[in-house]
Amino acid sequence: MAIRNIIQVGDPTLRKKSFEVTDFGKKTAQLLDDMKDTLYKANGAGLAAVQVGILRRMFVVSVEEGYFEFINPVIIKTSGKQVGSEGCLSVQHKYGEVERPNKVIIKAQDRNGKEFTLTATEFFARAICHEYDHLDGILYIDKATKLEVAD
Ligand code: NI
Repeated sequence: MAIRNIIQVGDPTLRKKSFEVTDFGKKTAQLLDDMKDTLYKANGAGLAAVQVGILRRMFVVSVEEGYFEFINPVIIKTSGKQVGSEGCLSVQHKYGEVERPNKVIIKAQDRNGKEFTLTATEFFARAICHEYDHLDGILYIDKATKLEVAD
């Protein structure tokens, strides 16, 4: 178990595009384990590899539906819309309202390289869209209205 340092807005790495994951061995498994530990410690809903300074297309999500790992994800379909409050572990002490699809269908690989397709709705869909944006250097503050300082 290892907690990694979460980089913060202003660090140029957060604005870079992440690269495809090609390694499905021990190194990627270790990184995912560390990301999970880091996410739980920070009490977050999602964490992308870029947030721990690794420019790889992968993220982890922890929501009511469970804990999920997405590697080389592609959102293949979205529908509906929802507007809700969002925050980010790389943008501390802030939150903002963001419009997202209400439903997403996402295709990705697991840590063994096996492909899967998953359908998510509501907050789970929001978390996926937020993390997915991280892979292309996009932060929710780019899309948020009513950005506010948290108590
Ligand atoms: Ni974030």
